[in-house]
Amino acid sequence: MPAPATLSPLIARKSRPLKGRTAAPGDKSVSHRALILGALAVGETSVSGLLEAEDVLNTAAAMRSLGAEVIRGATGWRIYGVGVGGFSRPSNVLDFGNSGTGVRLTMGAVATTPIEAIFTGDASLRRRPMERVLDPLVLFGAHAEAREGGLLPVVLKGARQPVPIEHRLQVASAQVKSALLLAALNVPGRSTIIERAATRDHTERMLKAFGADIACEEKDGATAISITGEVELKPARIEVPSDPSSAAFPLVAALIVPGSDIVLEKVMLNARRTGLIETLLEMGAKIEIRNRRDNGGEAIGDLSVRHSALKGVDVPPERAPSMIDEYPVLAVAAAFAEGRTIMRGLDELRVKESDRLAAIAAGLKANGVKFEETADGLAVDGAGPEGVRGGGHVATHMDHRIAMSFLVMGLASRTPVRVDDSAMIATSFPNFQTLMANLGAEMVPA
Ligand code: S3P
Repeated sequence: MPAPATLSPLIARKSRPLKGRTAAPGDKSVSHRALILGALAVGETSVSGLLEAEDVLNTAAAMRSLGAEVIRGATGWRIYGVGVGGFSRPSNVLDFGNSGTGVRLTMGAVATTPIEAIFTGDASLRRRPMERVLDPLVLFGAHAEAREGGLLPVVLKGARQPVPIEHRLQVASAQVKSALLLAALNVPGRSTIIERAATRDHTERMLKAFGADIACEEKDGATAISITGEVELKPARIEVPSDPSSAAFPLVAALIVPGSDIVLEKVMLNARRTGLIETLLEMGAKIEIRNRRDNGGEAIGDLSVRHSALKGVDVPPERAPSMIDEYPVLAVAAAFAEGRTIMRGLDELRVKESDRLAAIAAGLKANGVKFEETADGLAVDGAGPEGVRGGGHVATHMDHRIAMSFLVMGLASRTPVRVDDSAMIATSFPNFQTLMANLGAEMVPA
C-alpha cells in the first residue's frame, strides 16, 4: 500500500458482550496461490470467495502485468492463464505493496522464464529480507540484483535454460518453499525441496488440483517435495475458505470480552494453520468446532466461541509454523489469562510486516501488561481476573496484525486502547471494523 498521506488512528473501548454469527474473509494464502496458479494454467480458472484485500489485489495486478487475463465477475473471479513458461516481460515495475507472500511467490513464478521483471513494495516490504528466496532461485539459473542487504527493489532475470535443483530449506518458510515449487514448474526434470519444519502446504495441495506432478515423502523427520517441470497445468475451480489468521481476531475478542458468544463460519482448519486454536484450547478456551467438512481439499468448520477464563501455557516452539501470524493476538489473549504464557522459537517474527516481537512488546508495555522479551521469544504475565489496564497508544509500524491485535485488547481493557493507524488493515481484512461492529465491538476514529 502507498504510505497514506494521513494516518487513520482508531480507538477500541470496553464493549458489551459480542454476539452473532459471522465469517472472516477469504484466506490470504489460498487467494494469492489461486491467482498465480490460475495465471500459469491453460484455460479458465474460477475462484469464489477470493480475499479482495490490497495484498491479493496487488498479486492480481502483477498477474495481469505478466500477461494473464484476470477478471472480477459478478459471481467470482476468472483467470485465463498463459501456461507454464508463458509469462511476458512486464512493461512496468511490479509493486506488491505490503505483501511478502505476493512478492516472493511471484519471484518464484518468474525465475525460470526468460524475462526480466522488477519487484518492489511499500516501506515495510522494502525492509524485509529477500535473499531467503533469491539465493535458492539463483540455483535454477536465475539472476537477481537486489538493493544492498538483499532488499527490494529487485531486478530478476529468469533463467534461459533452467536446471532442476535439490534444495534443503534454510528457513521454515512456506513462502520460500512455494516460490521454489513455482519456479520448478518451468524446469525440465524433477526438482526436490526438503523442509524440516512443516509449514503451510496450500501450494502443494493446489498444485495437485491443477494437475501438477508433485509428491511429498516423509524421510528422517523431514518432508521431501518433488515436482516435475514442463507439465501443463489444467485450470481449476477454487473455493477460498475463511482465513483462520483473520478469524483469530474476533475469536480472541469473544474469549476476552465477558458474556460473549459468537460463531465464526467456514474457518479453514488445515492442520498446518490451527496452532492458535490448539493453544487457546490448552489455555481453557471455550471453542467448539462444529460441522467439520471438506471444502475443495481443505478442511473447514464453524467455530462456536464463548467468553472464557484463560490460563497461561507454555507454547511449544515447534508449533510456531502453524500459528506464525497469530502470535500478536495470542499475546493479547495471554495478557487476559491467569499466569504466564511462554512463547519461544519466534525469530521469524522479527522479519514480518514489522519486527513483530518488538511491536508486541511495546504494545503490551503501553497497556500495563507485564512481560519478558528475549531474542526469539516472549513470556507474558497475564492479569487474570483483575483485567488489563489498557489506555496505551500503540505504534503499528504499518503492520495490520499489530493494529487488529491491540484493537481487540481495547475491547476488554479497563481504559480504551488507541492504535496510531488502521489504514493498513485493508491489506488483509478490509471489513474488519464493520464485522467487529456487527458483533458489538466499539471502535471509533481517534
Ligand atoms: C505465508 C507464509 C507465512 C506467513 C504469511 C503467509 C504464505 O510467511 O507469515 O503471512 O502464504 O505462504 P513465511 O512463509 O515467510 O513464514
